[in-house]
Amino acid sequence: MIVLGIETSCDETAAAVVDDHGTVRADVVLSQIEEHRPFGGIVPEIAARAHLETLDGVIRGTMREADMEFAALDGIAVTGGPGLIGGVMIGMMAGKAISAAHHLPFVGVNHLEAHALTARLTDMVSFPYLVLLVSGGHTQILVAEDVGVYKRWGTTIDDALGECFDKSAKLMGLPYPGGPNLEKLAFTCDDHVSALKRFDLPRPLKGREGCDFSFSGLKTAVRQHVEKLPAGNLKQSDVAALAYSFQITAGEVLVDRCHNAIEQFFSTYPQSDKMPAFVVCGGVAANQHLRARLKDLTHNKKMDFIAPPLSLCSDNGAMIAWVGIEKLKRNMTDALDIAARPRWPLDPTAEKRPGGGIKA
Ligand code: KG4
Ligand code: ZN
Repeated sequence: MIVLGIETSCDETAAAVVDDHGTVRADVVLSQIEEHRPFGGIVPEIAARAHLETLDGVIRGTMREADMEFAALDGIAVTGGPGLIGGVMIGMMAGKAISAAHHLPFVGVNHLEAHALTARLTDMVSFPYLVLLVSGGHTQILVAEDVGVYKRWGTTIDDALGECFDKSAKLMGLPYPGGPNLEKLAFTCDDHVSALKRFDLPRPLKGREGCDFSFSGLKTAVRQHVEKLPAGNLKQSDVAALAYSFQITAGEVLVDRCHNAIEQFFSTYPQSDKMPAFVVCGGVAANQHLRARLKDLTHNKKMDFIAPPLSLCSDNGAMIAWVGIEKLKRNMTDALDIAARPRWPLDPTAEKRPGGGIKA
């Protein structure tokens, strides 16, 4: 079985061809970072226009790289949400047109499900498993019970962690996208003890029960520290120390919340012989410090730590195609009148949260 996947829900125009052995036959990701950089963040209208202008070429390039004709595919899978609605609609229209023209089954994919199932594409992880999704739009702890069956145990009640990285980095004077730049800056901090003492930051919800997150207070505390620094150009060593403290804080919060999730996992799913998996995904999972902290935690708790390669952790078409394969195998296809959805919670029973940063 071979499926074309299309992803346009945020600021990457992406397509990929994947088969049911998990071989990625072609994978093209066109980032819009340069278009959004002057604005210090993603501008939805610019994103939609860029998807419109580039998607045809990205799909054509992907099919060429896979050396395939549309008619030889077994299906088309397209992100149907959640995400920036203009972009999602452009991807859906393109995918539906190919599906109609070539009489191919169509699957409208939940973007969060694609992140959650990537570990099955890369590592054949078996259900049930725990997922920490940390990206610019989402911070969630999920249990993947089966294809299409997810429990959301935790989510941010305000900002996503990637958003908090980006906003804090901006306050420190770093260019967009802030997350990777903040990590690089933190590496240059040479006095860790005094950095933590000088730039003490709050650990929101740490020590509280449950698996929810809150990051807006952390961002506010970063702003207050920056405002106290000498006016004018910020000194590199000052912001490096602040970046270091920020990263340590983010790590402590993630570990605390995931610790609770792991305890809940073992009591909800008493395991037999196999070590269950803990999967981390989303763009923030690229952060080496956070990865190391989570790896230690899961090792101590006897879970198998799975972090898909970075190219499959951030937004891409291969993860969308893979959901297409998982669903087509189970005859879970969609009619072509399926609508694009700006919000599409993976777990419809999970309590709604009021926070602005939550897309599901
Ligand atoms: O998953 P992703 O590519 O896009 C979505 O948000 O869906 O994630 C992008 C986010 C951005 O907020 C970016 O700053 C953050 O991931 N990020 C990082 C790092 N690399 C990317 N945050 C911290 N450390 C990094 N090394
Ligand atoms: Zn994503």
